Order: sequence, then structure tokens, then C-alpha cells
Amino acid sequence: MAKRGFLFTSLLLGLLLSLSSIVASQETAKYEIEQALSLTPNPENGKKVFETCKLCHTAEGWGSAQGRFPQISGQHASVIIKQLADIRAGNRDNPTMFPFTGPRILKDSQTIADVAAYISKLPMTPENGKGLGNSIELAHGEKLYKKNCTNCHGENGEGDASNFYPRIQGQHFQYLFRQMRWIKLGKRRNANKKMVKQIHDFSLRDLQAVSDYVSRIKPASELLAEPDWKNPDFKKNLISAPKVQINMNQK
Ligand code: HEC
Ligand code: HEC
Repeated sequence: MAKRGFLFTSLLLGLLLSLSSIVASQETAKYEIEQALSLTPNPENGKKVFETCKLCHTAEGWGSAQGRFPQISGQHASVIIKQLADIRAGNRDNPTMFPFTGPRILKDSQTIADVAAYISKLPMTPENGKGLGNSIELAHGEKLYKKNCTNCHGENGEGDASNFYPRIQGQHFQYLFRQMRWIKLGKRRNANKKMVKQIHDFSLRDLQAVSDYVSRIKPASELLAEPDWKNPDFKKNLISAPKVQINMNQK
């Protein structure tokens, strides 16, 4: 009997602890975002920090067209800050990147502000990964986008820095499609609740069509790089796709 009582108490305690840690991690992220936004960024230091990020996101910040790694260049600094704070506080699952968001690499809010400023100024890829491009599906995707997404992500998927709405135009199709599925399924825990509701009734076909449409919206030309542009900050290191298998257990 005593044993069962003990078990019950431990279970209850465990539940309370995990609930309080969810609240705590949201508070941690909120505080870090506010801090980082209030600081004056130093993009020179951001460049140094980016040495680590480019292992996966490439020196250009373009990620991979197959969508495993998203393009992050050209993203609003506020959005980058929020995503970094959420990932490291555990509000958005990203097991691949999580080990690189600890205090050894992202020391404090200043470091986060620095790297976000650097990345937001990198030009975007003119050759992002796209979907199948079937014209009926694209027309369907366009209709869905204009009805359901422009309120927050803008007419052309340019997002809104002051409201933390991500720029989604010109992002890799496979990444968009994955995020849309995860947001709908509730797997992306930091998702915007109104957006989750908005796409609640979307079918897989709808998600695919809208992702293909968004991947084909061209960012403004001043945001785009020449197709063969290489980031001159990392000239010696022209590796532009992750060629090494990263050992996640390695510190
Ligand atoms: C080991 C690989 C790896 C490293 C190193 C890495 N990332 Fe990532 N990053 C990823 C993956 C994978 C995702 C997408 C996860 C998903 O699909 O949800 C991602 C997502 C992101 C996002 C969210 C993008 C979006 O559109 O929401 C940002 C911002 C980001 N990374 C910035 C950084 C920064 C800054 C660094 C360096 C401090 C970094 N990453 C280092 C793998 C990595
Ligand atoms: C009520 C506002 C709102 C609406 C409507 C909305 N979104 Fe979002 N969306 C957001 C916010 C906010 C985020 C970022 C959530 C976070 O991580 O903080 C987001 C994230 C995303 C992402 C992930 C971006 C990334 O870089 O990881 C995609 C893709 C996306 N939205 C596409 C869409 C599409 C397509 C529609 C229409 C079908 C849509 N959204 C409707 C607010 C909205």
C-alpha cells in the first residue's frame, strides 16, 4: 500500500514538475527574446558565431534544396531570434540543432542578436527547392494562400518582422511542406495558435499545393543573390553543402 502511495505521489510530482518546466521554458524564451531585441547587434561577432551554423545551413545560409536544412538567409532578425530562443528553451523540437544552441556557442542574448543580424542580411538563394509545379495544384495553392495566409505572412510571403511572422517566400518546398504538416499535427509546439486553427481543415493535398505555391513566390530582387554567389566572408571554405555526418553525441 505504502509502495503504491509512493508511486502515485512520484507520478503526481513528475507531472507537476513537467508542467512547471513547460511554463518555465516559455518564460525563459520570452525573456531572452526581449533582451536580444533590445540590444545593439554586432554583425562582426555574428559572422564568427555563424562558423558553426554554416555546418548545416551552408556558408550562404541557403540550407538544402531537399529541405532537410531550411534557408535562413534573409529571414527577419526578430524571427531568427525567436526561433533560436524557442529551440534552445525546448519550445520547438529540433534534435539536430539543439546541441548547437547551448551556452558554449550561443553565449547570451547578445550573441543571439549578433548572429541573427548577420544572417538576416545575407542574400537569398535564387534557386530554392520547389514542388512538382502542376498548374492546377498551383492555382489551388494560390487560392488557399490568398484566403488563409496573407493576413499574417503578407501578400507575397514576406512576413512581418514586428509581429514575428516569418518570411516564407522562396523557402524550400520540402521544408515548407514538413513545417505545414507538423504545425497542423501540433508537432511544432511554438506554432501560432491562430495559424493552427486556420489550417485545421487542410488536407494533405492542400498543404502540398500551398507549399508549392509559396516556394515559387520570388522575394524582391534586392534580397536575392546571383545564382553562383558564394559568401565572401568564408572564401577559404567553399563547402556549400554539409558533407560530413554530424555526430550528435559529440560535444
Ligand atoms: C547540425 C545542424 C545544424 C546546425 C549546426 C545549426 N542548425 Fe539551424 N536548423 C537545423 C535544422 C535541421 C533545422 C530545421 C528543423 C526543422 O525541420 O524543424 C534548423 C532550423 C533553424 C532555424 C529555424 C528556421 C525557420 O525557418 O524557422 C533557424 C533560425 C536556425 N536553424 C538558425 C541556426 C543558427 C543561427 C545556427 C548557428 C548558431 C544553426 N541554426 C546551427 C540544423 C542546424
Ligand atoms: C494568424 C497568423 C498566421 C496565419 C493566418 C498563418 N500563419 Fe503561418 N505562421 C505564423 C507564425 C506567427 C509563425 C511562426 C510561429 C513561431 O514559430 O513562432 C508561422 C509559421 C509558419 C511556417 C513555418 C515557417 C518557418 O520558417 O519555419 C510556415 C511554412 C507557415 N507559417 C505557412 C503558413 C501558410 C501557408 C498559411 C496559410 C495557409 C499560414 N502560415 C497562415 C502566423 C500565421
